[in-house]
Amino acid sequence: MSNSNKKITRRDFLGLSALWTCLAAWFFTFLGLLKFPKPALLPDVSNVFKIGRPDDIPIDSEKIYDDKKVLIVRDNEGVSAVSLICTHLGCIVSKSKDGFSCPCHGSKFDTNGDVIAGPAPRGLSWLEVSQLPSGKLVVNAGKRVPEGTKFVV
Ligand code: FES
Repeated sequence: MSNSNKKITRRDFLGLSALWTCLAAWFFTFLGLLKFPKPALLPDVSNVFKIGRPDDIPIDSEKIYDDKKVLIVRDNEGVSAVSLICTHLGCIVSKSKDGFSCPCHGSKFDTNGDVIAGPAPRGLSWLEVSQLPSGKLVVNAGKRVPEGTKFVV
């Protein structure tokens, strides 16, 4: 006689359920550990990038460099660069009518990048803008400057 008709007892069922739950927990923990050493936001190979000559950037204009996650603003006083990387956990903020907002946890920043609503611990980073001997402007996304710093052109 075969054992295929053997019924599983309640005790066996609960034991197997506990075993599979433990195995699943270990499996997903292992998957999480595989991802752990890799940062969610990888730094660019180069933090310095060109944004063109001053004449290429119209006065009172804004341009987002999506690949660099930087907003370039030109006004009468000069050219400035603001990082669009949220200071909470690194999500990319988007422009809103009042400034910037983060889609991840709801931080809000004013037009200068100052925190209006948390959980972001500090405002958005302003980045160094400088000029090459060739006349082209470059942004160093790895170098923070005080808020309001503009490269006078
Ligand atoms: S990453 Fe922006 S609020 Fe959390």
